[in-house]
Amino acid sequence: MTRTFIICKPDAVERGYVGQILDRFERKGLKLVAGELRQVEEDTLARHYAEHVEKPFYPELVAFMSRSPAFVAVLEGPQDTYAIVRTLMGPTNPVDAPPGTIRGDFGTILTENLVHGSDSPESAEREIAIFFPGLA
Ligand code: RTP
Ligand code: MG
Repeated sequence: MTRTFIICKPDAVERGYVGQILDRFERKGLKLVAGELRQVEEDTLARHYAEHVEKPFYPELVAFMSRSPAFVAVLEGPQDTYAIVRTLMGPTNPVDAPPGTIRGDFGTILTENLVHGSDSPESAEREIAIFFPGLA
């Protein structure tokens, strides 16, 4: 089995889409192995988004991700779980995301794109350790 890390971002919680987002992953055949509604603090975001800390959009990203609670979770499937999740999410920018994807169906702007999913098996392992250290 392989695991990946997801976040239903603050916009998804505020707009009431957490259930529908989790439903898509569960219908696909992935299993929820951990999950919690959590206010994500700035220091945790700096570890999670380490690759983006120096980028010009980081202040806006951290302000958005910490403005209200997010639903953080771990999903499990037989293989390539991170890739399945990324496919269901759609491209980063909802403008480019096709219908049928989460970002394509529910989003309109790059900065509020509803969901995060780890982008590789290595990222999944690193991010699970940050948010659910007991699972590692
Ligand atoms: P995520 O990490 O949140 O799952 O999204 P991603 O892999 O599809 O995209 P990534 O390149 O990791 O970017 C992280 C988040 O930063 C925001 N962003 N803003 N203003 C900008 O130019 C810009 N570029 C990226 C997006 O909201 C993206 O989800
Ligand atoms: Mg990313």
